[in-house]
Amino acid sequence: MIKFKNVSKFYGPIKALDNINFEIEAGEMVFIVGPSGAGKSTLMKLLYREERNTHGQILINNIDVSSLSEDKIPYLRRRMGIIFQDFKLLPNKSIFDNIAYGLRGLGVSEFEIQKRVAGALNLVGLLERAEAFPDELSGGEQQRVGIARAIVQGPPLVIADEPTGNLDPKTSIEIFNLLKSVSLRGTTVIVSTHNHKIVKEFKERVLVLEDGKLVNDTLLSAVSNPYA
Ligand SMILES: Nc1ncnc2c1ncn2[C@@H]1O[C@H](COP(=O)(O)OP(=O)(O)OP(=O)(O)O)[C@@H](O)[C@H]1O
Ligand SMILES: [Mg+2]
Repeated sequence: MIKFKNVSKFYGPIKALDNINFEIEAGEMVFIVGPSGAGKSTLMKLLYREERNTHGQILINNIDVSSLSEDKIPYLRRRMGIIFQDFKLLPNKSIFDNIAYGLRGLGVSEFEIQKRVAGALNLVGLLERAEAFPDELSGGEQQRVGIARAIVQGPPLVIADEPTGNLDPKTSIEIFNLLKSVSLRGTTVIVSTHNHKIVKEFKERVLVLEDGKLVNDTLLSAVSNPYA
């Protein structure tokens, strides 16, 4: 589903990613780990075209994301759910309306919106909080709303950049479990995190970035991997 071929990214003179190669199959859950500045966020931004790679190819379902024209980017993002460390919920909208926002923008009928938002809220266990506002929810609950919002349009790919960066270990495990359940439904899930301990427990595939280089991929090698 996703293929990085000799991908490099420069920000001016700074080499953020250095000749990255890997493939991810549909329905996989993959963790991206590595120290601060290793290039995790950059890798994810290239996928949703917040940034553009300097060299190489990034294929999503055989379409080269790096060569998409600006007017095609909204269509690209419609087929992915993006989850952020700081949740990025709209503070003046209810939980329901936060999740419905993208669907309303697409002109989906109100009947269909009710059905889909309720389904997404049910999946993250927050159906009874639909009318609450973001500041009435705990951090973990807000991130569950972030997940509901990411999956409500049924995207084939979910990208989560440090989704548990603001959460305690117990809540982080809940969030990773939810993301795992999303992947078990057939969605490809890519998650970056600093939390090596939790990653170890999950026994999923791990890509290790260091200084812009892919230094380990547990799918290809179990040798000398500090995180597996
Ligand atoms: N917009 C930018 N302009 C210039 N340099 C940037 C920009 N964004 C990132 N960088 C640099 O690229 C490198 C990789 O940054 P990136 O944010 O991808 O790392 P990260 O692994 O996500 O780090 P963290 O764990 O702290 O979030 C760093 O050296 C960073 O300073
Ligand atoms: Mg980052």
